[in-house]
Amino acid sequence: MAAAERNIDRMARLVAGTEVRLRPHYKAHKCPELMRRQLAAPGTAGAACQTVAEAAELAALGCADVLLTNQLADPRRVAELLALPPEVDLGVLVDRPEQVDLLGAGAAAARRRVRVFVELDVGLRRGGFDAADPDVAVAVGAIEEQPWLELAGVQAYEGHAVLEPDVELRHRRAADAHALAGRFRDRLARLAGRPLVLTGGGTGTADLIAATGALDEIQCGSYVLMDAAYGRLGLPFEAALFCVATALSAHPDGRVVLDAGMKSLSGDGLPRALTPGVRVLGLSDEHTRARQAATVLRTGDRLLLQPWHVDPTMNLHDAVVVVEDGRTHTAPIRGRHAVRAG
Ligand SMILES: Cc1ncc(COP(=O)(O)O)c(C=O)c1O
Repeated sequence: MAAAERNIDRMARLVAGTEVRLRPHYKAHKCPELMRRQLAAPGTAGAACQTVAEAAELAALGCADVLLTNQLADPRRVAELLALPPEVDLGVLVDRPEQVDLLGAGAAAARRRVRVFVELDVGLRRGGFDAADPDVAVAVGAIEEQPWLELAGVQAYEGHAVLEPDVELRHRRAADAHALAGRFRDRLARLAGRPLVLTGGGTGTADLIAATGALDEIQCGSYVLMDAAYGRLGLPFEAALFCVATALSAHPDGRVVLDAGMKSLSGDGLPRALTPGVRVLGLSDEHTRARQAATVLRTGDRLLLQPWHVDPTMNLHDAVVVVEDGRTHTAPIRGRHAVRAG
């Protein structure tokens, strides 16, 4: 926890003295205990989340400003979101006019104000309008017509840039995305006749955003625990999440088999072994295959693995073991899967 606290402090110091606000992303870890500490950091505007189940956890934590950085296309999910305690200020993304109609109907039924953020695709090719899509104006018009919806801002997540290891390329890609997003926000603000918030960003672009002020908010997620993917970037955040594995067999030819696989660690990349001289080669369901040059690990030895990707790793577990002030306790991970019939 001390490492996570230092990361929280470093991110807060990055934006100190600027107009940029932090919006930590709950999806990174889904751990209320961690998020409580992140929300207490100076310069924090509220939290971001990716699912309605996560939004419910944030509401239960007492977070007063929750931005769902996703679209909703199912009236049942809209109703669930709008059933959260009324004191929570809710924001939702749209990138199609149809979503506005759905959200507007739900908001009217719940008699609840909802802040709407128009998502712009700035290069990730996931969610978001193309800037030139004529339906942007249609969606903005539809928001303005809905009595319970308020056009609040623009979402522009430069996910294609955040993990680029080459810092110049990362910053160039991000700066291009920010420039596009800034022009788009200004256009929508003119249509709306009032200032709009520009939100986006992530761990890998937080330094640039803090320095330029190009976005109003940083939706920083991974920074608090970090992972091996981000570890390659030389960012000012340290590893705070590890999986303890045991060497099931250490063979004389250097092969080592560990008892943690894709059911404990994200399978979209290889974890990093913290023991020097041990290199991870592959993951299967319940095993990690590694190789050691000299005998640093013997059968039965334990070692630490840093996951490749924090979000899907945390999503595999019910709880994390927190080490704090020389003591341990378990902290639940909540809001993972909402299993629903129908
Ligand atoms: C919409 C959105 N915002 C913010 C983030 C957080 O990014 P990071 O973990 O790089 O801080 C993500 C991560 O995928 C995201 O999808």
